[in-house]
Amino acid sequence: EKGGHKHFMHKEILEQPRAVADTVRGRMLLTEGDVHFEGWNLTPEKVRSLSKITILACGTSWHSGVAGKHMIETLARLPVEVELASEFRYRDPIVESSHLAVAISQSGETADTLAAFKEAKSRGATAIAICNVIGSAMTREAEFSVMTNAGPEIGVASTKAFTTQLVALYLLAVKLGRMRGTLSVAAAQEHLTHLTQIPKMIEDVLKCEPAVKRVAREFMNAQDFLFLGRGPMHPVALEGALKLKEISYIHAEGYAGGEMKHGPIALIDEKMPVVVIAPKQPHVAYEKIIGNIEEVRARGGQVIAVIDEDDAQVGGLANHVIRIPAACALLAPVVATIPLQLLAYHVAEMRGNDVDQPRNLAKSVTVE
Ligand code: F6R
Repeated sequence: EKGGHKHFMHKEILEQPRAVADTVRGRMLLTEGDVHFEGWNLTPEKVRSLSKITILACGTSWHSGVAGKHMIETLARLPVEVELASEFRYRDPIVESSHLAVAISQSGETADTLAAFKEAKSRGATAIAICNVIGSAMTREAEFSVMTNAGPEIGVASTKAFTTQLVALYLLAVKLGRMRGTLSVAAAQEHLTHLTQIPKMIEDVLKCEPAVKRVAREFMNAQDFLFLGRGPMHPVALEGALKLKEISYIHAEGYAGGEMKHGPIALIDEKMPVVVIAPKQPHVAYEKIIGNIEEVRARGGQVIAVIDEDDAQVGGLANHVIRIPAACALLAPVVATIPLQLLAYHVAEMRGNDVDQPRNLAKSVTVE
């Protein structure tokens, strides 16, 4: 049932064009410039009266929440806080009836996320879930759920669940933007058109696998890795580092580029690979991340840059480049994450690790 793949994780990485298309299918109303979600029951008045969104999640799902914050704040102009569920549930959180709590979970069974979600609900928030498993505890607790439709994810390291969460969040951001009047029909149509291009872009980005494998071979014995990204690429950096540590057991840190000089720069020497996620959009992040690349190079660090296909600037600065199709700023995380999944996969595989069942990890963390 691995369909000719050596591991489920590899199969699931390669399934992402299909998985993402299934998340979008039937929901995108291109001519109306709107989004349809089965079971959606929030009235326009309710949506306009929302004062805040609180995203509750753990691990990789928390990373998609951080990317979702960029999407929702940009398109719906609503403040979003992304909370680690395990922290939220054990403090005395401020929750109001004008808050929308959004739980994000592949399994729908993560104990901390479920408890935080119940806590937000009991304090009066409207509670919805973004989830991959139909009938799971989270979906039963939710007012309604946006299913990610990724299909069963067997590999412990989350891959297609993450990218489909990103797409679900993007659809939610467009929907909220339309209902709140921050997006015109034409603007929504433009954003949705970007989304239609994503499955093909994922297919194209998967062609970078041989280049990623070469990088994996070169750095498979590194002790540490640093991943840097800015703006919507910050959660991609966090996710790239998490994937690598989970299955290769190499120590890795994900950082916002601007934070490098506040500490991690001290780690950089000739032995340190630094993966810099540097697509050209958003431009402000791109300009700044080039500065980060120069800082790493000046200290002898090895830069692996993930850049747009047509990038002419970073190529000469980095030691290795992985080229990806250029997506719009808010959807670029979907495309940019894929080479990092492949990097973690190949490093782990070359090191002879059990990719699908990494040590000490469980697919669904139903204990706190
Ligand atoms: C990472 C990973 C975990 C999960 C986390 C939340 O690859 O799999 O970090 O993302 O345990 O799980 P869900 O999304 O099922 O709530």
